[in-house]
Amino acid sequence: MKTVPLAPYEDDEGNRIEYTGPPSEAVQITFRGRDNVARIHADAHTRSLQVDFNASNGTFELGANPKRRGFAAQVRVGQDATVRVRDGVSATAKVVISAVEGVTVDIGEDTMFASQNQVRADDGHPIFDVRTGERINLARSIHIGAHTWLGWGSIVLGGVEIGEGTVVGANSIVTRSLPNNVIAVGSPAVVVRTDIAWERPHLGLTEPFYKPHSSTVKKSKYWRRTDPEFSADHLVEAHPPTVRPQRPVSTARRSVTRARRLAGRLRNALADRTG
Ligand SMILES: CC(C)(COP(=O)(O)OP(=O)(O)OC[C@H]1O[C@@H](n2cnc3c(N)ncnc32)[C@H](O)[C@@H]1OP(=O)(O)O)[C@@H](O)C(=O)NCCC(=O)NCCS
Repeated sequence: MKTVPLAPYEDDEGNRIEYTGPPSEAVQITFRGRDNVARIHADAHTRSLQVDFNASNGTFELGANPKRRGFAAQVRVGQDATVRVRDGVSATAKVVISAVEGVTVDIGEDTMFASQNQVRADDGHPIFDVRTGERINLARSIHIGAHTWLGWGSIVLGGVEIGEGTVVGANSIVTRSLPNNVIAVGSPAVVVRTDIAWERPHLGLTEPFYKPHSSTVKKSKYWRRTDPEFSADHLVEAHPPTVRPQRPVSTARRSVTRARRLAGRLRNALADRTG
């Protein structure tokens, strides 16, 4: 096992770091096994990054990001696994990312992590069915769409795809796929609002210090309506909001009602088509 700081590197086992930027002690890469590749953009800015290649034939890629943004993570890359962090991804504190057993974690451009986030394509240890001996918790790939915002403490688990422009609320655990441009909250995370867009300017630090309307910010390219074709199973219908404390009808509730109506319409349309 060797741990090396960020700089061009190659060893006798075929492990290598592909990088043309300045050396950085803030990035530490550990190689066990062989034929692992860390491909890091010359303009990747990181405050603190640890990449552990646990076995062989793993790939880690990190795209470019502005210095003021910065990315920080603790990454595990297992046998034949890939972790890809695309351009412009930011993290307030270290994100824990794990991929093993040949799966991929793909984090879309301009994704924003808060603090205490985890993206786990595997559970770290195997669980088996005692009757059959079959593994019940196989590692599964994760795809996080561009311009996703993962709120404080939120966790994304294996098999999940998140559509572009979506917001995951604080302390939420995403166990099922989510469509684009929604807010999803809770554990498991469910959609509570559709047709939303979020922007990066900080509420406290960026003028104007009151931002009551989108005219106060520069709109990104991620302003889209939520895809109505996205499988209705992932909308609140699958986890009825009756488990939540009841409140007077709010905008959020109206969105939930709308999402449920949408789910019903999709189901009827599908029944008509198949019936
Ligand atoms: C999700 C969030 C962005 C707000 O979204 P919102 O649409 O304004 O949310 P609302 O307050 O209207 O709540 C909508 C519903 O979701 C629920 N909800 C909101 N946030 C929730 C959360 N994190 N976990 C569980 N439920 C939550 C509300 O109780 C409400 O449910 P109800 O209508 O059944 O009562 C916000 O709640 C949040 O999590 N903020 C944290 C952001 C963060 O982590 N910032 C760190 C800096 S990057």
